Amino acid sequence: MAILFDGNQNTLTLHTNHSTYQMKIDPLGFVLHLYYGKSSVGCMDYLLMHSYQDRGFSGNPYDAEEDRTYSMDVLPQEFPYHGTGDYRSPALIIKNNGNFCGSDFRYKSHRITNEKYHIKGLPAVYAEKEEAETLEIFLEDRVSNIEVCLLYGVLPKYDIITRSVRVVNQGGNKIYLEKLLPATLDFVSGDYDFITFYGRHNKERNFQRVPVVHGVHQIGSRRGTSSHQYNPFVILAERNADEENGSCYAMSFLYSGGFQCQVEKDQFNLTRLQMGLQEELFEYPLEPGEVFYSPEVVMSYSSQGIGQLSRNIHKCYRHNLCRGKYKEIPRPLLVNNWESTMFDFNGDLLYGLAKDASALGIEMLVMDDGWFGTRNDDTSGLGDWQVNEEKLGEPLESLIQKINGLGMKFGIWVEPECVNENSRLYREHPDWAFQIPGKRPVRGRGQLMLDFSRKEVVDYLFGQICNVLDKGNIEYVKWDMNRSFYDIYSNGGKEQGRVLHDYILGLYDFLERLITRYPNILFEGCSGGGGRFDAGMLYYTPQIWCSDNTDAIDRVFIQYGTSFGYPISSIASHVSAVPNQQTSRMVSLHTRGVTAMGGVLGYELDLRELTEDEKEEVRQQVKTYHKYEALVQNGDYYRLTNPFENQAGAWAVVAEDKSEVLVSAVSLECHGNAPIVYIKLQGLKSRCIYRDTESGQEYPSDALMGAGMPLPMINTYVAPMQTENEGAKPLPVVGQEHQAWQWHLELVEK
Ligand code: GLA
Repeated sequence: MAILFDGNQNTLTLHTNHSTYQMKIDPLGFVLHLYYGKSSVGCMDYLLMHSYQDRGFSGNPYDAEEDRTYSMDVLPQEFPYHGTGDYRSPALIIKNNGNFCGSDFRYKSHRITNEKYHIKGLPAVYAEKEEAETLEIFLEDRVSNIEVCLLYGVLPKYDIITRSVRVVNQGGNKIYLEKLLPATLDFVSGDYDFITFYGRHNKERNFQRVPVVHGVHQIGSRRGTSSHQYNPFVILAERNADEENGSCYAMSFLYSGGFQCQVEKDQFNLTRLQMGLQEELFEYPLEPGEVFYSPEVVMSYSSQGIGQLSRNIHKCYRHNLCRGKYKEIPRPLLVNNWESTMFDFNGDLLYGLAKDASALGIEMLVMDDGWFGTRNDDTSGLGDWQVNEEKLGEPLESLIQKINGLGMKFGIWVEPECVNENSRLYREHPDWAFQIPGKRPVRGRGQLMLDFSRKEVVDYLFGQICNVLDKGNIEYVKWDMNRSFYDIYSNGGKEQGRVLHDYILGLYDFLERLITRYPNILFEGCSGGGGRFDAGMLYYTPQIWCSDNTDAIDRVFIQYGTSFGYPISSIASHVSAVPNQQTSRMVSLHTRGVTAMGGVLGYELDLRELTEDEKEEVRQQVKTYHKYEALVQNGDYYRLTNPFENQAGAWAVVAEDKSEVLVSAVSLECHGNAPIVYIKLQGLKSRCIYRDTESGQEYPSDALMGAGMPLPMINTYVAPMQTENEGAKPLPVVGQEHQAWQWHLELVEK
């Protein structure tokens, strides 16, 4: 049993294979949080034995009577709602009867079931019956007659605990949810660092680690999307925790809209970590009898460092969040025309690209933006999902057939959530776009958001996209979304405070219907690259375009940050042309390949411009990728360096049985007369020998992990005394300072 109720102690305990989580229902019916950490037996309420003190300006619940030592301002709580006298950040604020805030929820009952709960209309980790259990704790506010159900899903083998909240308005009055954060973790002890992933378009998910100090450190997104700027995945790590050691906690929000996450250190040094819905512009009405289902937060604990924490999340998401045919099988290796042609293409050009690609072993051609309506640049046509046959020079059906005839699959780009004002759709339905009456809207990339909170809008777009997908053998769809939300106003007559959340429900409804209707299509998420790289999207699309930045060196950083909360099988990564379009950097084809193989490999360049040598190199890359694809998709991922602090970015994927490992490294810097850089491996079988399958070189595993693997010396310039006869000259290869290496090592059975 993963979930245990002890009626004597009134504790509820959740056990995963390596962690324990404990709560206590106290005599007043408040649910106190006792412990989350390394597996433990017994009752942890001793942790609070000195917490009951008369603390000035910390109020006492009325039913504590004369006991002034009892205050919710001081105690660690499971679900701190507004109204108890706790002045720290609440997880729930309800406006009752439309005009006052202040609730009084107490424990009513609980239920334990042998399966993982589902959440209506929202993504959630799923599990087979024997894999998971659910705890529901029912709280009731007898005055306003509202029920709150705290849901916990326990997946022991991944060390995962999930949380969600259900609010039921059982009373006779309309209420408003003003704030709802489904997960709160209160820690009575410990010094922590807060690790977050900040960024911007073209430079997403930079790693930041800062100490938790008194006050509130909040991140989030007000953009209506999970955003490029902050990712809804965070880590709370004990000060001394690193990749391989120490206690750390993860929170990941399965939601693609605005979010809020914060850590707070309070007056008595307790630490509170919370994750949930963005509270600005959120005021969700609940009529009598209505139910609100919160999105899910996935939590994990590791006592063995941040690397293990990531691997817990990776496994859970690979096996129990991603869905569909492609969730665990190799994905077709594609070439996308965007960076090479932008909007300037036709059917012949795409056919030519597909032909060149097939000769190199690439398996799919993806036709990106520009194939529909009057879409010849990004100022018009968005919303008109009719094939521009004139531009293609032929019907889509025949282009697909021709490309299939080359033995190539065909994929397509769509952006159903947005509209250009210069489009037929907008002219016919201007009220379908978010716009505040009388106010000129804020445009993003020259486009407006469609109101997906309205069913008729979702239904119409769904029909339009299906018409296209039904035209032929389309085997991949890139679902894009290229702006942040603003001017939230629904002409459907909805209250503003519910629109952003209803939008996300509309989006998920669309995606759910789409993946159900097209089970054989591989869906890839995208939002100007990684603007919606979140676990909510992974429920519908097993891979996401990680960034519009395809520069191999910037990508080492972006993919490093992404790897903390997401499996590399979800990170779409392409080799593009040099000089790179986003950075102008020159990087060798080899290095571009090694970096892109740190995710799901693809190509995004004009293959006609490659020299014969380069074509041969691409052929080899494709072969190498296929050789190690299963290992990379299914193995355990290890970050070997932090590129923000090291001269090289390095990572490895180790087979679950430790029989093989693929190590990759990319040099980020180059110095004169440089010292040798050593990369320490992780996760190998101890006291063994591993052999490089290419060179035959043998390495003792503990030395690889303890002292490291030396990187070859990088010289962009040949020292004069070594080349007296030839004279000193730079090496001819451009971008030489960013070399890359891959070693495939296998365990030597002796
Ligand atoms: C976004 C995507 C790109 C490309 C363009 C097309 O920026 O991230 O990959 O599809 O849109 O307009």
